[in-house]
Amino acid sequence: MLESQLHNIQNETEGMSIEETLSYLASKYPSRVAFSTSFGEEDQVVSDFIFKNDLPIKVFTLDTGRLFKETYDVFYKTTLKYKKNIETFFPKTESVQELMTTKGSHSFYDSVEARKECCGIRKMEPLGRALKDVDIWITGLRAEQSENRHDMGKFQYDSKFDCIKYNPIIDWKYDEMKSFIAKNGIPYNVLHDKGFPSIGCAPCTRAVKEGEDIRSGRWWWEISKKECGLHG
Ligand code: ADX
Ligand code: SF4
Repeated sequence: MLESQLHNIQNETEGMSIEETLSYLASKYPSRVAFSTSFGEEDQVVSDFIFKNDLPIKVFTLDTGRLFKETYDVFYKTTLKYKKNIETFFPKTESVQELMTTKGSHSFYDSVEARKECCGIRKMEPLGRALKDVDIWITGLRAEQSENRHDMGKFQYDSKFDCIKYNPIIDWKYDEMKSFIAKNGIPYNVLHDKGFPSIGCAPCTRAVKEGEDIRSGRWWWEISKKECGLHG
């Protein structure tokens, strides 16, 4: 159980910068640290810290098969800039084939259960494979993104995947993130400039209006909690 190591990690990394913390974790848990990127602007910041410092941390993405073209453009620009590989996990062919054959291409609009079934097949199952043998799971979560994320700390134990989550930019404000991206010439998804603060799968994400909640464009037809199961 990794949970018992949470306090120790918190104590030992107290006062460290993000680079120092990442490098401490990479040396304390060799080959067992992984960062998940969806190529959103938060994730691009974290990728920059990992790639620029040449840290031995696996960077992976979950390709659901329903991503925006613009997301693949950032994938391309990122590998071009840093010359690093991004491990890509696809859903199981048989599961997607069965889902599409029996329920059609847009079953996620039918009900919350149907949507969760799709997220389960296209995101959760591949995430489980990606996090197999991983002790430290790094994310690009920010507290400002949603109510559910307000109380998340830099470190937390994730019982679903029995690992410790490290959220390096959890307390970063939106403007801080934007200026870090501009200052460091970090490639980012052009959809962010078109009203998409949070970007997931294409059929399940839409632009939001000025003043609307950051995550209101995700699964916008649902009134339930806007999470797919990855983080709550
Ligand atoms: S989600 O739960 O609603 O999908 P969100 O898009 O806010 O999550 O992203 C939060 C974090 O989850 C990202 O910083 C990233 O670490 C991880 N994540 C989300 N989607 C993916 C994906 N498709 N591939 C890899 N990581 C992802
Ligand atoms: Fe399926 Fe939509 Fe979930 Fe993507 S976000 S996995 S398309 S339900």
